[in-house]
Amino acid sequence: MATTPALHDALLDFTSRENWDKFFALRGDGDSFEWYAEWPQIKAPLLSLLLGEEGTEILVPGCGSSSLSEQLYDLGFRRITNVDFSRVIVADMLRRHARVRPQMRWRVMDMTNMQVRLLRP
Ligand SMILES: C[S@@+](CC[C@H](N)C(=O)[O-])C[C@H]1O[C@@H](n2cnc3c(N)ncnc32)[C@H](O)[C@@H]1O
Repeated sequence: MATTPALHDALLDFTSRENWDKFFALRGDGDSFEWYAEWPQIKAPLLSLLLGEEGTEILVPGCGSSSLSEQLYDLGFRRITNVDFSRVIVADMLRRHARVRPQMRWRVMDMTNMQVRLLRP
């Protein structure tokens, strides 16, 4: 990701929702970005933890624009809930995924203050 002074400034405080909204708005929508690891790096260790658990309920807190949940969905995991407190990125992810991955859930929510029930019955 090419950085600009404006993008850099938007991330001076990682805990600020406004900053993340600004960051995602400046960066533009429509594509994925991985902050920590690319899917090929984490696929094997992650699947070794998840496989075998039928109907695994997966929570992706601070999902950002990562492709992690779409990779899992496309492998057959359906009970995935993505949470991020940036309305900007959740709206973008919904636009990108709602039609092709209709069972995936997206919530604008602060992961440090999650008060609603996220798990399905
Ligand atoms: C460094 S990015 C990581 C994004 C993604 N998980 C990845 O690996 O590429 C941090 C993400 O967490 C979100 N975030 C930060 N604090 C949060 C909070 N308290 N509640 C919900 N989301 C939060 C930000 O909006 C941003 O999308």
